[in-house]
Amino acid sequence: MNEKEEIRNKIFSIWKEIEEWDNAYYNLDKPIVSDEIYDKRIIELQKLETKYANYFSFDELNNSPTQKINAKASDIFKKVTHNSPMLSLNKAYTLEEIQKFINNIHKITNEYSFFIEPKIDGLSISVKYQNGKLLQAITRGDGIIGEDVTNNIREIDSIPKTISYYNDLEVRGEIYLELDKFEKLNMMLAKENKPLLANPRNAAAGTLRQLDANIVKERKLSAFLYQIVNPENHNIKTMNEVFNFLNALGFQTTKDSKVVKNIEEIKNYIDNFKHIKKTLNYETDGVVIKLNELKYYKTLGSTVKFPHSAIAYKYEPNAIATTIKNIFITVGRTGLVTYNAELEPVQLSGSTISFATLNNFQYINDLKIEIGDLVYIKKAGEIIPCVIGLVNKKTKNSNFKKIEICPFCHNKLEDSKTMLEQYCVNETCPEILRKKLIHFASKDAMEFDSLGEKNINIFINNNLIKTIEDFFRLKNRKNEILKIERFGHKSIMNILSSIEKSYSNSLEKLIFGFSIKHIGTKIAYFLAEKIELLSNFLEFNYDDLLKYNEIGEKIVDSLKKWVSDKKNIETVKNLLEMRLDLKFISSRKTEKFSQMIFVITGTLSQPRSYFENLIKENGGNISNSISSKTSYLLVGIDAGNKLSKAKALNINIINESEFYELLKKN
Ligand code: IVH
Repeated sequence: MNEKEEIRNKIFSIWKEIEEWDNAYYNLDKPIVSDEIYDKRIIELQKLETKYANYFSFDELNNSPTQKINAKASDIFKKVTHNSPMLSLNKAYTLEEIQKFINNIHKITNEYSFFIEPKIDGLSISVKYQNGKLLQAITRGDGIIGEDVTNNIREIDSIPKTISYYNDLEVRGEIYLELDKFEKLNMMLAKENKPLLANPRNAAAGTLRQLDANIVKERKLSAFLYQIVNPENHNIKTMNEVFNFLNALGFQTTKDSKVVKNIEEIKNYIDNFKHIKKTLNYETDGVVIKLNELKYYKTLGSTVKFPHSAIAYKYEPNAIATTIKNIFITVGRTGLVTYNAELEPVQLSGSTISFATLNNFQYINDLKIEIGDLVYIKKAGEIIPCVIGLVNKKTKNSNFKKIEICPFCHNKLEDSKTMLEQYCVNETCPEILRKKLIHFASKDAMEFDSLGEKNINIFINNNLIKTIEDFFRLKNRKNEILKIERFGHKSIMNILSSIEKSYSNSLEKLIFGFSIKHIGTKIAYFLAEKIELLSNFLEFNYDDLLKYNEIGEKIVDSLKKWVSDKKNIETVKNLLEMRLDLKFISSRKTEKFSQMIFVITGTLSQPRSYFENLIKENGGNISNSISSKTSYLLVGIDAGNKLSKAKALNINIINESEFYELLKKN
C-alpha cells in the first residue's frame, strides 16, 4: 500500500467509526462514546482532511461526517423539509477558542455584545405558528429534513398552543426532561423490569419518538425556546429582544441568560454558571455564547454545520474513560456486599483514581460490564468514584459471574428480599467484625484519634482486639504492643489517651458505634435522648418509641434483636463494668431554630454532619424529605429532586451564606 492509500484508508475508517457513533446517538438514542471523545475524533479528522485534501475528490470530502449531520428521519413520522436549515454549534473548550470566535466578529464590526445562556442537553425542535395557533413542530433530523412530531409537541405544557401574535412565526428551542421526572421514569422502568434510560436527553428523545402522544403527556417533557427564525420579520434586533419577545408570548426561556460585553464578562459568567448549573432541575452541557446584534448574522455567515455568530463552551468533563483491570467485592459492617472495579489509574478532578464502585451485581449486569472493558467513571463532590457506563465493549461477552461465596469467611452470601443486594450473614465473619471495629473507632463514633484502619488491622492480627470492649483493655497490654514493630512508647500513649478521652464521650456516639442495623447518627441521637444512660440500654422499652414519628417498626425490631443477642448483652455489661456508663449529651446551645425543620441537599463546603450539628445545636430538626412542614431547604452544589420539590411547595430555599445569616440573626 502506498502512502496515499494508507491515508485514505485511515480516514475512511474514522468516517465509518463516526458514522456508527452518529447512528447510535441520533437514531438509536443510545450514545456509545462521550461528547469529549466524539469531539476529539472529529477535530483529528478535520485536521487530516485539511492536510490531505488533495487525496480525495470533492464529492468524497462532501460525504465526510465533518460535513453533515448523520441523523436520519425515521419512517414513523412524516418527513418535512425545514424552511431554513437547523444547524449545530461550533464548540470551544478554552477561553482562547472563545477569543478566536470574538476576533472573527471583530473583523466586521467593533460594536458588539454577547448574549450568553445555558446550553440545554436535550433535542432541538422547530415550531411554527400561524394566526396565533400552533401549526407544526419538526425535529432537527439531519438539519435539512426533520420529522413532524406536532401531536407529541402539543402535549408539552411549556409550548403554548395559542399565542397572541398573529404573523407567521417559527420558533426554535430544546425539548428536555426535568431531572426529577427522569429519575421517576427510571424508577418506574426498573419496577417493570424494563431497560433503564441512559440519561435525560435519551429519555426525552425516546419519549418524543413515541407514536402514542399519551406517553408524552404522562412523562411530562418540557421545552426551552431560544431562537426565532428570520427575526427581522418581527422587528427584533437583538438576541436579548428574542428572549423578551418569547417570554411575552408565554414561551419558557432559561432564566440564567445575560448580555455581556467582553471576554472577561464571559469568563465570569462561565465561572459562575459552573455552580449554578448544579442547582438546576435540567441537564446542561455547557453555555452558548451568541452575538447579541442580529444584523451581523448574515455577513458572518456559516459553514455547512454551524454559524459563525454563536459558539458553545463546554466545561471540563467530570467523567473519564478507563479500563477495568479486575472486579472484586468488599463486605461492610452490616454484611452488605459491594462490587468494586480496580481500574487502570486515571486523573480526574485533580486526583488519581484506581478504584470505583460498581454497587451490586445487578448494576454490573445492567451495564453489561466485563473485566477488560473500557468504561466511564464519574466523581461527584465527596462521593466515591462510580463506574457509570460502557465506553467500548472490548470483550465479546459479559461473562462476569455473580459472587456467591464471601471471600473472607467462605460462607454462602444471601440475597436481600429485593434481590438487589447480597449480604454475608455470618455473624462471625472476620471482615464484618473488622469493619465494625474500624467503625467503632471512627470520628462519628468513639473518636479514637490515633486508631485508624491500619493500626486496627495490626491489633487484630496480633490478637489484641476482637470485640469493642477490647479497645478499653488495651491499657493493660502495653508490653505486648511495644513488642510490635513500628509501635513506640509515644504512639502507644497517644492511642491509649484517645481511648481514655472517650470516657467523656456521649451515649449517642456510643450507640452509633455499636453498628446496629438501621441506626445512623440521627436515630442514635434520638435514642440517646430517650434512653439517657448506657445502663438503661438493655432494659429499655423499645416499643414505647413507636409513638414518635421518627421511629418505625423496622428500627424497633432491629433494636430489640440487638439487645437480646447474648454477645451484645455481654458487651454492654462489660462496658458498664469498665465504668463506661456514658450519658446523653444534649448538643443544644440556643433555641433559635426551635420548631423548625431543615432539609439539606447537594454538596456543601463542609460535610453534611457539620450543618446538621449546627441546626441541632440551635434547637432545630432535620428531615430527609421535603414536605409542607419543611421550614428551610439548605442547598449546595448538585441539588436534584429536593430542590424542585421545595420550589413546587414554595419552601424557603437558602444557600450556605444565607444559612449563616440566619444563624447570626436575633
Ligand atoms: S442556539 C445554529 N442555544 O445545541 C444553532 N442551541 O450543539 C443555534 N442547544 O443544535 C442553536 N441549548 O439543539 C442554541 N441555548 C441554546 C441551546 C442550543 C442547546 C442545542 C441545539 C443545537 C445544539 C448544538
